Amino acid sequence: MRLILLGAPGAGKGTQCKRIVAEYNLSHLSSGDILRQERAQKSELGQKAQEYMDSGSLVPDELIVEMMAGAIKKTPQEGFVLDGFPRTVNQSVELDKYLEKANKTIDMVINLIIDDQIVLQRLTGRRSCPTCGAVYHIENLKPKVDGICDNDGTRLVQRPDDTVEVVANRLKTYHEQTEPVADYYRQNGYVFDVQADMDVDQITDLLFDKLDALQKA
Ligand code: AP5
Repeated sequence: MRLILLGAPGAGKGTQCKRIVAEYNLSHLSSGDILRQERAQKSELGQKAQEYMDSGSLVPDELIVEMMAGAIKKTPQEGFVLDGFPRTVNQSVELDKYLEKANKTIDMVINLIIDDQIVLQRLTGRRSCPTCGAVYHIENLKPKVDGICDNDGTRLVQRPDDTVEVVANRLKTYHEQTEPVADYYRQNGYVFDVQADMDVDQITDLLFDKLDALQKA
């Protein structure tokens, strides 16, 4: 299966992606995670991306498209989930061109729908593990011991772009540039809209039901 997971910042893309890839043995290709790795390695791409990410703006399309095409090419499994990419209509068009050349197609686009107010509450309370990438929330999804990762005991950290000011700009960027991406895919008739203000497990159950049906089709 090849999937795209769309949604505002904080809609729960990363949380649901981790569950989907584990259940269906797919690769998780998160543009945000790849950019953060590039930054940690102080690569040329990472340094170019830094300023955009810290202000909540989008990294230029040409850098992202090349980076994600490279990630898809390197993926060991046939199936993958794209998380955070494409994020502009231009990125979608370029992805389509790349997939056509590679003789691959996208099976489903999942669109997580959420209110801005909930996003703000979720992102300012998000904590993640710098070692294994597990994502928690200080109220909604607490680790067993406060501030410590359940998987490996690492101290949890807050992302620098999860401040109130930067989240506001990320939301503005999302409404202006990324919402039209869902409409782009809707024209092709394979967008599955999901209300993302439900409990994490309820959303996972809905997605698994849909993906089970897709696998059997
Ligand atoms: P990226 O890392 O992709 O960030 P994002 O899209 O803003 O998404 P997030 O990772 O913040 O949220 P999420 O939807 O994964 O939510 P999560 O599951 O963690 O991008 C960062 C930056 O990189 C961008 O701003 C941009 O600069 C750049 N970039 C990336 N891709 C790009 C591209 N294609 N083009 C250009 N630039 C690009 O959940 C959030 C919190 O809510 C967690 O604490 C979680 O525990 C909690 N939660 C999740 N689900 C629920 C639920 N159902 N109920 C209650 N709490 C929940």
